[in-house]
Amino acid sequence: MVRTQPQSKRTRRPELEFPPGFLWGTSTSSHQVEGWNRQNDWWAFEQKKGNIRDGTKSLAACDHFNRFAEDFDLAHSLHQNAHRLSLEWSRLEPREGHWDDAAFDHYRQVLEALHQRGMTPLVTLHHFTNPTWLTRHQGWETTRVVEAFSRYTERCVEAFGDLVEYWCTINEPMIYVVMGYFLKQWPPAVIRPDLGFRVAANMLRAHACAYEIIHETAKQRPKVGLAHHIRLFDPANPTSPLDINAARIQDYFLNGLITSALRYSTLFPPLGFFEHLPCSSMPMDYFGVNYYTRDLVAFDLTQTETLCGRNFPAPGAELQMFGWESYPEGLYRICMEAKAYGVPIIITENGIPDNTDRQRPRFLEQHLTALHRAIAEGSPVIGYFHWSLLDNFEWAEGFEPRFGLIGVDYATQERTVKASARIYAEICRRNGLS
Ligand code: FCB
Repeated sequence: MVRTQPQSKRTRRPELEFPPGFLWGTSTSSHQVEGWNRQNDWWAFEQKKGNIRDGTKSLAACDHFNRFAEDFDLAHSLHQNAHRLSLEWSRLEPREGHWDDAAFDHYRQVLEALHQRGMTPLVTLHHFTNPTWLTRHQGWETTRVVEAFSRYTERCVEAFGDLVEYWCTINEPMIYVVMGYFLKQWPPAVIRPDLGFRVAANMLRAHACAYEIIHETAKQRPKVGLAHHIRLFDPANPTSPLDINAARIQDYFLNGLITSALRYSTLFPPLGFFEHLPCSSMPMDYFGVNYYTRDLVAFDLTQTETLCGRNFPAPGAELQMFGWESYPEGLYRICMEAKAYGVPIIITENGIPDNTDRQRPRFLEQHLTALHRAIAEGSPVIGYFHWSLLDNFEWAEGFEPRFGLIGVDYATQERTVKASARIYAEICRRNGLS
């Protein structure tokens, strides 16, 4: 399946070589690939007309719940040595306090399947979806969730701790908040910034508790972090104090609130009034970064939704679907800045919506070149997980945008290895690129 290279190329060392043992993988999340996750809030949300832009519902998604072994065979044949997935809370705890043994067996098989293929799992506990019983109790809006998430974490670590070295507690707290409580596009689809800040604070509290629990429960010495979405905001006019401030404000809300909470174990306003998180040390053993794009920001009083900034891609830049700018330099900048946190960095997501696979090869090469440059300049990056292994259900966008290295025909569930997957496979195999 993977193109073989002539011998001379095979043995030549890549010019841009990554550190030994570098984790090369892809990311997925349960609801986006598994299929039939009927007991979570997203399933309920999809049933309402108009909530999903292209009118699709997740339904069988990629049927990955049944096809995980074949999908991992593909990933393995493409020389990936790691894989990020998420556990579906609503399968494991379909009713509050009721644990489903069959679901626990299933995920053990999934994790064992990765080990059998020599692939390191990175396991996310919460990737946007909530069990419906939790939604009935106001989801993440009350501190009650901290206890519920702690219990769930403990169960998972007891069940899977021997198979997991890298835990990711929560995926992208601020994206969850912005989409659900500011932009009204994801459940619970309200405009309630006050609740949104409460949710972000609870996610950070729950993260800190989970951090402690995982370390207390796991027999091995796991590494625990969360996946933080970083979108860069640069002033449209770098000499304009108004543009500079408009960009800084967005950067503070979307990026800074989470990084400062993690670095100083403290909730800063508006998340909290310098409240210390419930953990005894900095609650991150690695810094997980999800990076996609950047915006230029011009001061504009009419743009209240984006805190008085008008956002747009850099003129002349290569654009992707959704109007996102391809900005590989951003990955370099983020990794250089995160050096200061003093922990290893893992790129937990980076990818492109590209339905024809025409842009993805260049995207990969440019972003990995930028990543290599950061490593060469001392940034402690230890892994890269491309989003995504498979085309999948892209939340409120439905199935339309295709992020996969492997294409999925949703009618037949047939998989097709795209050209970009082969390019990535060569990079993984050689542990670098030329
Ligand atoms: C990230 C999400 C992931 C996927 C990609 C495209 O923000 O974590 O689930 O939707 O974007």
